[in-house]
Amino acid sequence: MKHIDIIDILNNDANMGKSVTVCGWVRTSRDSKNVAFLELNDGTSLKHLQIVLDKAKFDNCSPYMPGGTSLKVEGTVCEGINGGVEINADAVTVLGACPGDYPMQKKRHTLEYLRTIPHLRVRSNTFNAVFRVRSVVSDAIHRFFQNRNFVYVNTPILTASDCEGAGEVFKVTTIGYSDKYKSEDEYYSSDFFGKRAGLSVSGQLEGEVAAMAFGKIYTFGPSFRAENSNTPRHVAEFWHVEPEVAFADLNDIIEIAEDMIKYIITEALEKCPEEFEFFEKFYEKGLTEKLKKVASEKFAILDYTDAVELLKKSGEQFVYPVEWGCDLQTEHERYITEKICGKPVFVTNYPKDIKSFYMKQNPDGKTVAATDLLVPGVGEIIGCSEREADLDKLLSAMEAKHMTVDEYHDYLDLRRFGSVPHSGFGLGLERILMYMTGMSNIRDVILYPRTVGNIR
Ligand code: 4AD
Ligand code: MG
Repeated sequence: MKHIDIIDILNNDANMGKSVTVCGWVRTSRDSKNVAFLELNDGTSLKHLQIVLDKAKFDNCSPYMPGGTSLKVEGTVCEGINGGVEINADAVTVLGACPGDYPMQKKRHTLEYLRTIPHLRVRSNTFNAVFRVRSVVSDAIHRFFQNRNFVYVNTPILTASDCEGAGEVFKVTTIGYSDKYKSEDEYYSSDFFGKRAGLSVSGQLEGEVAAMAFGKIYTFGPSFRAENSNTPRHVAEFWHVEPEVAFADLNDIIEIAEDMIKYIITEALEKCPEEFEFFEKFYEKGLTEKLKKVASEKFAILDYTDAVELLKKSGEQFVYPVEWGCDLQTEHERYITEKICGKPVFVTNYPKDIKSFYMKQNPDGKTVAATDLLVPGVGEIIGCSEREADLDKLLSAMEAKHMTVDEYHDYLDLRRFGSVPHSGFGLGLERILMYMTGMSNIRDVILYPRTVGNIR
């Protein structure tokens, strides 16, 4: 169907006075004595396009009016009364009528209610804005890495190894319930792959394989976690950006992570001014200023040991007590980034016992060269580390964590054949989107959130 995107009508003066065809859904309508007005949206812009129907030309406007009705409109582009652009309609075709039980007709629904209609909530202004920013951010991520000689690789989603070792892998099986097998081993050896398989929690291990050939790589795809945590920051399926860089230590990768975040934010602010104005108005006052500051100021860096001392001295009553060696909980992370630093902060050198096997062991024997990037309002958005490049040290870490070394044969080969210092990180796309849009629940920045007890 030949037509012009509404964004091009709104932004391009060259269409003024011309005869055009636009398509879209009615958002609101207003009837007066001689004219009727429709606000049409085709999803290309947060702003609607006003359609003016001269009633002398249309004997019955009512089929065009209900919210949600899809229309094709032919007409002339004119200047509106209050400036801006509108269409003086010559012909209107109803593509799909929309009856009165359409749930999106009401002006403002709660986000909670909208979550019950994921197939329709995307038609609201909030989701229009969130998903355009999501698209622009995804593009900026690709551009950031592509401009710097990174190779984009697609790591497998079906995998036989658990990268994070946290036991949060979704099992993949084609057999299902059966009392035919006497043991789990017997079950899995009869299964599709002849062994245990699952959905990848991270593309890192395969990313390291690629980085040992292409030097600098990144992956950008879904990761899956069977975490039994029902929080506003966790989903079972999230989009994961994972660069892996050869010949890079922890400081090098921190620099890349910081540059990437700043690049993404700058691009989004430039390309989505209306969307940020919208978030500012409805979701987070001061959002644009906050993001501009983040894009221009150096992030903080704080050693884990110092962070624990500061938390202990804070006098704050935490639900989970803080001691050296503890994993930082969201309440601690948020206190560090919001109260202690007041900006994004890389917390570095975590105790080795609470982190994954692959992280480079520091000379102190207690900590690893790992860092999490924490941001105000959200907490952790990046998990990052230098990788252990020494075969013997890696093996001893795996043994200490009681891992089945045989399953990591290929990974260990990387340390046998031309091992190099290398580092990487994982950014959760939905986490940074929460930070950038002011949405306080991760369920509202992803099309279909998968959480405990919830899939459709
Ligand atoms: O800190 P994580 O577990 O690190 C890794 O998976 C490393 N293998 C990454 C690497 O070095 N290549 O996860 C990385 C990020 C987190 O900081 C968070 O932003 C996001 O992934 N993430 C989740 N996002 C939403 N829901 C969940 N359940 C998430 N789990 C992790
Ligand atoms: Mg982490």
